[in-house]
Amino acid sequence: MNPTDPPAPDHWQAAHYRDRHAFVFEASRDLVTGWLAPQPGDHILDLGCGTGELTAQIAGSGAVVTGVDASPDMIAGARERHPGVTFVVEDAHRLPFRSEFDAVFSNAALHWMDPLPPVFAHLHAALRPGGRLALEMGGAGNVLAVREAVEGALADLGLPAMEPPWVFPGPAELATLLEAAGFRVERLHRFDRPSVLSGADGFRAWLEGFAGGWLAPLGDNERRAVLTRAEQLARSHLWNGQDWVADYVRLRALAVKG
Ligand code: BEZ
Repeated sequence: MNPTDPPAPDHWQAAHYRDRHAFVFEASRDLVTGWLAPQPGDHILDLGCGTGELTAQIAGSGAVVTGVDASPDMIAGARERHPGVTFVVEDAHRLPFRSEFDAVFSNAALHWMDPLPPVFAHLHAALRPGGRLALEMGGAGNVLAVREAVEGALADLGLPAMEPPWVFPGPAELATLLEAAGFRVERLHRFDRPSVLSGADGFRAWLEGFAGGWLAPLGDNERRAVLTRAEQLARSHLWNGQDWVADYVRLRALAVKG
C-alpha cells in the first residue's frame, strides 16, 4: 500500500460488535490477568483493540496503555466508551513504534493481519529488550464449520469461491513465526472454545459482523442469499436446539523479546 492509496473500506461497526460479539472480549479477560499480568507504570500496546474493553481493563491496573486498531469506526467507539484511555488508528503492517513498550497485548486480532511475519517484526521493534508479547488468536481449524457453510452456500448459488481474509496458524507454526521475529516463546496453549452466538439469528449476526470484507465482492442481494443458504447448511453442525455455537479454536502465547 502506498501513502497515496485511498483508505481500505472499513467493514467494522463498533455498535454491532459490542452488542453481538461481547463474548470475544469477555472470554479473554483472563488473558489480561493471567498472561499479560500488567504492572502499574508498564507501557503497553494493545494491538487490534476493537472497542477497547480489554484496553480499559489493562488501564485499570495502573499501566499506561495505547490501544490501536485499523478501523476508524472501532477507534471512534472505543474513545467514546473509554474517554480516559488513548486510542489511535494504526495499520498493524505499518506500526511506527520503536523500543517504547514493556509489553504488547493482542486478543482476537492477529488472525486478521495476514501476512503475520511483518506484524511480528513490528511488534518486536516496538518492545524494549526483555519486553513481552501476550496474545490470543484463532488457530488452525478455527470456525471451520462456519467457513464450510459459507463456501457451500457460494457453490450452491453458483457464485465464485472467495478466500476468507483470515490466517489461522497451528501451534508449531505460530512458535516458528514468533521465533523468526526474534521472540523466545515461554508459553503456548491451543484449546477449543465453543462459543455461543446469542439469539436465534446468532449465526447470521456473526457473519454480518465478521464476513463483510470476505463477501464484499457480492452485491447486497447475493450477500443476503449467501447468508440465508449458509445458515441452512450450518444448522446441523452449529445449532444445538437452543443456541448457535461456533467452533472456535484458540492459540495463546507468551513470548519475550530477547
Ligand atoms: C475469531 O475471533 O476467531 C474470529 C472472529 C472473526 C472472524 C474470524 C475469526
